[in-house]
Amino acid sequence: MEQEALAGTVIWLTGMPGAGKTTIARAFVARMQTFAIRSTMLDGDALRAGLNADLGFSAEDRMENIRRVAHVAALFGKEGYIAVTATISPHPGHRASARQIIGNESFVEVFVDTPLHVCEMRDPKGLYKRARQGEIEQFTGLDAAYHAPVNPDLTVRTQGVSVDACVQQIIEHLASKGRIESAWRPVQRQLRVPR
Ligand SMILES: Nc1ncnc2c1ncn2[C@@H]1O[C@H](COP(=O)(O)OP(=O)(O)OP(=O)(O)O)[C@@H](O)[C@H]1O
Ligand SMILES: [Mg+2]
Repeated sequence: MEQEALAGTVIWLTGMPGAGKTTIARAFVARMQTFAIRSTMLDGDALRAGLNADLGFSAEDRMENIRRVAHVAALFGKEGYIAVTATISPHPGHRASARQIIGNESFVEVFVDTPLHVCEMRDPKGLYKRARQGEIEQFTGLDAAYHAPVNPDLTVRTQGVSVDACVQQIIEHLASKGRIESAWRPVQRQLRVPR
């Protein structure tokens, strides 16, 4: 039987390009499946490919992007899911707006904290390289500022830390806030073999 998370939990991951948001969100959702907790990932790139395909990277469009992601996350939260969003959301105003849309009691701001030189070395999409070559303007982390959260609900450092350990920190934070039962164990999936 599926367990429900306490209604309305949205984990809002924020961090620079290449910080590890998508990787952590995906691993988190996979981990929740083993607990039979319903969760879903809302990835900025995937949403920009469809729902937000009309938006660019101007200040207005970035804000509109966040507004839409926050509303979709809030809908999942209301259905009892843990929604994990993976957007850079570089400005405090983005996070504040998301918090307001989702509701303070449901909103968990997680700063995926990875130093710029590590993000640039990882460069999973080759975007830092292209930005350095002048092919991308206003790239967050280089010529557009990433404003790190001053007081996030949780900071997860990824440098020299495994993805699993990062996910575990988020789980422990949720458990400490009573958002998931810390005692839940992975569901034992056993095949019943008829005698
Ligand atoms: N502890 C960790 N947590 C997350 N990612 C890690 C960690 N250690 C190494 N990595 C690596 O860092 C890279 C992070 O890339 P990812 O696409 O998740 O970043 P992102 O924050 O989603 O970037 P973007 O904003 O451009 O979408 C991956 O190649 C991942 O394997
Ligand atoms: Mg990503």
